[in-house]
Amino acid sequence: MVALLPVLAVRPPAGHAQDSAAAADVQAGQRQFETSCGVCHTAGKDGGTRQGPNLYGVFGRRAGTLPGFSYSAALRNGGWVWDETTLDPWIANAQAAHPGTVMNYRQANPAKRKLVIDYLKSLSSSQ
Ligand code: HEC
Repeated sequence: MVALLPVLAVRPPAGHAQDSAAAADVQAGQRQFETSCGVCHTAGKDGGTRQGPNLYGVFGRRAGTLPGFSYSAALRNGGWVWDETTLDPWIANAQAAHPGTVMNYRQANPAKRKLVIDYLKSLSSSQ
């Protein structure tokens, strides 16, 4: 929660146009998530495990700590928290960001990475 406060503080008063623009981004982010990550991850609340762990609430969560998922040693109790700065290099090239991980994924397009990160963030802030 603490990590979200600065974001909330700078957000302008929510008008109608901003609400629908934000909703459109979340929808685009959800589509991007399904395309890029959906094969291996669910993101719904209480969504199940695929090859990777459920990602609902992952934004702001400590890496490698979802109960019941068998992480590689590279992630298990990773010691970092997932936020913009840790997720961006991870999605760009997971195995370069954290050598030894079994997540084999790269996304070279920064705009697509941002869409997905904003989507994951929106799921956490609605908890
Ligand atoms: C080919 C399957 C695959 C794809 C595609 C994939 N992932 Fe993963 N992901 C995994 C696996 C497997 C793990 C567990 C890695 C480990 O234990 O080393 C993981 C772990 C993660 C974690 C760490 C979760 C935690 O609890 O610490 C995040 C965050 C993540 N993935 C985000 C994404 C995002 C966002 C995308 C899409 C842009 C994506 N992944 C695409 C397989 C995948």
